[in-house]
Amino acid sequence: MDFGFRRVSPEEKTRLVGGVFERVAERYDVMNDLMSLGSHRLFKRMTVEMSGVRPGMRVLDLAGGTGDLSALFARAVGETGSVVLTDINPAMMRVGRDRLIDQGLAQVKFCQAAAEALPFADGSFDCVVIGFGLRNFTDKEAALRELARVLTPGGVLLVLEFSKPENPLLESAYAVFQSAWPGLGRLIVGDADSYQYLVESIRVHPPQRALKLMMQDAGFGDVEYHNLVGGIAAIHRGVKP
Ligand SMILES: C[S@@+](CC[C@H](N)C(=O)[O-])C[C@H]1O[C@@H](n2cnc3c(N)ncnc32)[C@H](O)[C@@H]1O
Repeated sequence: MDFGFRRVSPEEKTRLVGGVFERVAERYDVMNDLMSLGSHRLFKRMTVEMSGVRPGMRVLDLAGGTGDLSALFARAVGETGSVVLTDINPAMMRVGRDRLIDQGLAQVKFCQAAAEALPFADGSFDCVVIGFGLRNFTDKEAALRELARVLTPGGVLLVLEFSKPENPLLESAYAVFQSAWPGLGRLIVGDADSYQYLVESIRVHPPQRALKLMMQDAGFGDVEYHNLVGGIAAIHRGVKP
């Protein structure tokens, strides 16, 4: 398994990723705004748009963390629908639960679980969304197969994730920008290593076409992707046949 540029055992990856999010949880949201200059909010709104969810639908926000996507989806599905935020990390979920309660969105349910072994029956959801989570999973293929299982036929998977800029000039400029993240992490969170992991994990994550193939291999149909800011991030969408 890759943990940034290092090769580690599956157990080690789960432990190391757990440590990263344990340490950054309290400052996760402010760091996201700083590192993305606020653009992650727009990316998340676009993900909801691409989902096509309607009032009454059942949504799983996998690796939901501090709850940004759960909040947006809760508003989209309304009181007749449901949103379950699932994450492996209790510290991230604690911050998320407090934030959603503060926003008056107490109807979002929380479930601590690993993406690779979800405690939900087959066909439980109309939509599954993963925001900046897939990169961190211990076994991405197993997680994608689980998502195909818990979606109802016709259900939609959306993967919002960092990706590969298509223009080499943009890629170089972005690399310079990213090199500031560990220093920012040291300043704001007191932890440069977690943000060094972030930079490395983005570099080793499968680019657009490779992720599309992984989704197809896991059984998704009609897989397409949309680049955001020239491919710095991308939204992949697939349908459970
Ligand atoms: C970068 S955060 C994304 C949080 C949120 N979705 C967002 O977009 O702001 C990644 C999340 O993935 C979670 N995570 C990592 N490995 C996981 C796994 N195997 N199963 C479920 N969640 C996992 C982490 O605990 C963390 O909360």
